[in-house]
Amino acid sequence: MPDMDDIKDGKSYHADVPQKCETFFLKGSNALDWGMKNRLARIFNPVSGRTVMLAIDHGYFQGPTTGLERVDINILPLAPHADSLMLTRGILRSIIPPSLTRSIVLRVSGGTSILKELSNEQIAVDIEDSIRLNVCAMAVQVFIGGEHERESIINMTKMVDIGTRYGIPTLAVTAVGKEMARDARYFRLATRICAELGAHYIKTYYVEKGFESVTASCPVPIVMAGGKKIPELDALTMAYRAVQEGASGVDMGRNIFQAEAPVAMIQAVRAVVHANETPEKAYALYQTLKNQG
Ligand code: R5P
Repeated sequence: MPDMDDIKDGKSYHADVPQKCETFFLKGSNALDWGMKNRLARIFNPVSGRTVMLAIDHGYFQGPTTGLERVDINILPLAPHADSLMLTRGILRSIIPPSLTRSIVLRVSGGTSILKELSNEQIAVDIEDSIRLNVCAMAVQVFIGGEHERESIINMTKMVDIGTRYGIPTLAVTAVGKEMARDARYFRLATRICAELGAHYIKTYYVEKGFESVTASCPVPIVMAGGKKIPELDALTMAYRAVQEGASGVDMGRNIFQAEAPVAMIQAVRAVVHANETPEKAYALYQTLKNQG
C-alpha cells in the first residue's frame, strides 16, 4: 500500500530549522569517513573524548607474560571496565566471549619473538579477518630508529591504505629500542612520522619533560602506553599527567593487570582519564575498591 500521507498538507518539515551538522569530537579526525569515525567513537568516549584501552597483546612476542598466563581468569573480569581491548586474534577467538560489546583493537603486526630482532615484523593478519572480527582499529608496531625502521613504517602505511578501503582505523604503536633515548625529542619525531604517513591515532610513552610538545605537534590523538610495572600511585600520576598534557587516553597493560588489585586499578585509571580525578583521589578510590575485594 503506497504511503498517501505525503500528499496531504500539514506535514512538519521544520523548514526554519537548519539541519544539525556535528563536528567530530576527536582531534584531527573530522575529515574521516563515517565508518572510521563510528569505530573511533567506540574506542574513544564521545563525552570525555578519551579512552581507557587495556593492552593484553604482550604474548604475541613474549609468550605468557606475568598476569596474562590465564586471560580467561585474570583479564575477563577487567574487560567490562575497559573502553577497548587491545589483543591478538588468537586470544580474541579462543577466550573473549563474542557477547562482549567493548571495542576491539587488533594487533596485526608480528612475526618476531624476544629471542630475535624485534623490529623485523610483518603484517600478520589479513584485512578480511579484521573485518570478520568486527574490530574497531588495527595496531601496527613502528620502530623509528630501529634496525627495520623502513619495513615497519611500510607495514603501517600498508595497513592505513587497506584499512581506509574498509573504514578501519590504524593505530601506530611507537616501539623504542633499548639503545634509544626515551625523551620528548624522540617521541615528537616518532609520533609525527606516524601521523604524517596516515596513522589515525598513536600510542607512545609518557616522558616527564616536554610531553605536551609531543601531543601538541602530533595532529592526531595520542594514547599513553603504560610500560613496566611501577607502584600504583605512580602509574595513576603518570596517566593523570599524560591526559592533562594532551593525551586522549591511555593504552595500559602491565600497570593494570599486574597491579595488586587489577579490577580496582582499572577503575582508578578510568577516574583519572574520564573524570580528571587527581592521582591522590584515584589512589584512594583504588584502596577502597581493593579493600572491598
Ligand atoms: C607493545 O609492544 C605492545 O602493544 C604491548 O603489549 C603494550 O604496549 C604493552 O602495554 P604496557 O607497556 O602498558 O604493558
